[in-house]
Amino acid sequence: MNPSADFGQTLLNILMVNEGNLPRRFLGEELFPKLLARTLTLPPKIPGHLELLNEINSETTERERLLLYNFLAQVWSGTGDVLEIGPFLGGTTRAMALGMRQNPQRDLGARLYTYDKFEKYYSSEQLLSALDHLFQKGIVPEEAKDRIRKSDNFLEIFQLLHKDQEYYPIIRPRVGVLPSTKDEVGELERVFALDKGQEFEIIFVDGCKGWYPTKYFMQTVAPHTKPGTYFIFQDYGWYTCFWIAAFVNIMSRYFNFITSVDDIYVFKLEKDLAAPEIDVVFPDTAQELGAGFFDALFAGLSERALELEDMNGYFRHQLHRVSSLAYLGVKPEALRILRELFDFPYFKSRENYVAAINSALRVPAYTPEGNVRFH
Ligand SMILES: C[S@@+](CC[C@H](N)C(=O)[O-])C[C@H]1O[C@@H](n2cnc3c(N)ncnc32)[C@H](O)[C@@H]1O
Repeated sequence: MNPSADFGQTLLNILMVNEGNLPRRFLGEELFPKLLARTLTLPPKIPGHLELLNEINSETTERERLLLYNFLAQVWSGTGDVLEIGPFLGGTTRAMALGMRQNPQRDLGARLYTYDKFEKYYSSEQLLSALDHLFQKGIVPEEAKDRIRKSDNFLEIFQLLHKDQEYYPIIRPRVGVLPSTKDEVGELERVFALDKGQEFEIIFVDGCKGWYPTKYFMQTVAPHTKPGTYFIFQDYGWYTCFWIAAFVNIMSRYFNFITSVDDIYVFKLEKDLAAPEIDVVFPDTAQELGAGFFDALFAGLSERALELEDMNGYFRHQLHRVSSLAYLGVKPEALRILRELFDFPYFKSRENYVAAINSALRVPAYTPEGNVRFH
């Protein structure tokens, strides 16, 4: 028995009363998301689950995977299907699927559909090196090495990593590629598409690595959502993916902020998401909105974060501002904001912020053509 974990569980139950609406009204925008984040990052009670959550290489933090695990175990209603874009080897897929299995309300027919291009992400060499610890433990058989040397496709590795787990029957891996630009849409053989009639209660987004892919994904999933659908955006807080924060805030009438853990931000859909409206307000390229738009958008979001005493939110939106300006070629202004951020004593004295600033100094943005640099 762990009294502190039990207290966390009780608090989570209270926070989710009336789908969180009442507690949120009472606690307000500042407290509710923070308390929820705290309770949703408690370690699993089931022995062995924490180890499983940390076994597969993942580009998420442990806290982010705990959020996914607990969200599916305790916030998901247990009935609607779940969608993931961008599982890579499935560290995040595992977190969600394990969580689904722990949910006492789980409908046995509910599935986790996970889409990826399943190739051209890591080279064969990088894949072999990333999987080294799993070969050594015998989790991936040695025979797989030859196939990886011949191809960077990782669908089979994904299957090998999950096939012996109890949650495997829940997951449905699918090949689906998000086009980088509008011109690419008609050219792709396995463009991302969903089956007619599919509806999702939770959508975890970790594969929208560009402006247009984000638009294409959101337009495609829109008819498969309904008010109440949760969107969990892995990259919302990551500066180079400023398009995610731009999308959510351009469409802010639709999205209600629920909580955040590290780079993950969770939103609940408030009303029917209409694909045609996305087309009107979110153009095919960031260039069509122009640097002034992003400067004002992210400056406004930073100010709002400060009002809520959310230093982390302030920092992230300032970096979004830097990245969007650098993306659009307004580099001197982007560099000026970055330097100003570095002079802020609060950030200067904290390692994680200094590391993020240094990373943005090296690569402030990336475009479909490659990395942007200041010099
Ligand atoms: C950051 S990784 C995901 C990491 C994973 N969620 C984890 O456990 O940490 C991004 C994934 O998105 C996929 N991806 C990137 N661009 C894509 C595209 N245009 N279409 C489909 N998948 C894409 C990559 O293949 C990769 O698996």
